[in-house]
Amino acid sequence: MQVHTAIYHPDLINEELYQAALTRVNSDTRSRIQRFYRREDACRTLIGALLLRLLLRKRGIAVESMAVANTPEGKPYLVDQKLDDEIGFNITHDSALISMAFAPGAYNPPAFSIGIDVMKTQLPARDTVDSFIAMFEGQLTDLEKAQLTPDLPAEERIRRFYWMWTVKEAYTKALGLGLGYDFSRVEFDAVRREIRIDSQAPKGWRFTLFTTSDGADLYEGVVSEFIGGDLAEIRDQASKDTTSWMSILDAATVLERAVDELPSIL
Ligand SMILES: CC(C)(COP(=O)(O)OP(=O)(O)OC[C@H]1O[C@@H](n2cnc3c(N)ncnc32)[C@H](O)[C@@H]1OP(=O)(O)O)[C@@H](O)C(=O)NCCC(=O)NCCS
Repeated sequence: MQVHTAIYHPDLINEELYQAALTRVNSDTRSRIQRFYRREDACRTLIGALLLRLLLRKRGIAVESMAVANTPEGKPYLVDQKLDDEIGFNITHDSALISMAFAPGAYNPPAFSIGIDVMKTQLPARDTVDSFIAMFEGQLTDLEKAQLTPDLPAEERIRRFYWMWTVKEAYTKALGLGLGYDFSRVEFDAVRREIRIDSQAPKGWRFTLFTTSDGADLYEGVVSEFIGGDLAEIRDQASKDTTSWMSILDAATVLERAVDELPSIL
């Protein structure tokens, strides 16, 4: 499993670069991107789409003939992969971070069982820690709620909450179900750092937990992938060196590379 991450600061992407990069995605993706009301949302989706195309280009795939389709639940996947080893991928974006996880497609084609979620560990404006956590109570297990009690420092509660949430999101994105899954079936024990699905260790699943910083902002991320076998593996890479499996570029470089390396497909 590998992750490619882009750090996006809107003021570093000028109109000319944005428009040029838009010509490097196919017309369906381009129309979807152009329908976003906010340019920043359009850019995040564009950057995710380009991370995928740059990866495929590197593997010798003719990007102009590549097609992305969606499962009935909306999970994007590559159609008719002309690769010796098919890949599964998944994209996430939050604030300044756009990440794409990919791995050899081994189980459950065509979208394969890989999901990624990243979130900035911040409290939304106008929320208190209590009001924020209360909004999600129905999606937390009893153990999770007990690990978020007000006697803990606010920062610890926020960090624990985001681990719980990104684990739930990454797992359900690996299933391809997104919000169509009861999040309270997925439990992250933030103290023992264990994961349970329907109260059981998730056999055959690997969860990789990581952190990334953008200046003073901290992001928590989780990749969930089905790898088979009898074990449930939690790789806790938070605050560790992730360079062997994650690359980080600024978004302007991703767009410039796309313009340089990918053909225009207007
Ligand atoms: C889409 C969803 C799987 C993830 O949403 P999210 O956590 O807000 O967003 P993330 O940034 O982590 O992931 C978005 C990416 O996941 C991928 N994705 C979309 N549907 C997916 C699915 N069913 N399974 C896995 N991945 C999916 C896409 O690549 C998407 O990015 P793109 O549109 O730029 O290509 C899930 O939350 C969902 O079903 N949302 C539906 C939208 C909705 O109802 N939103 C209301 C929120 S209250």
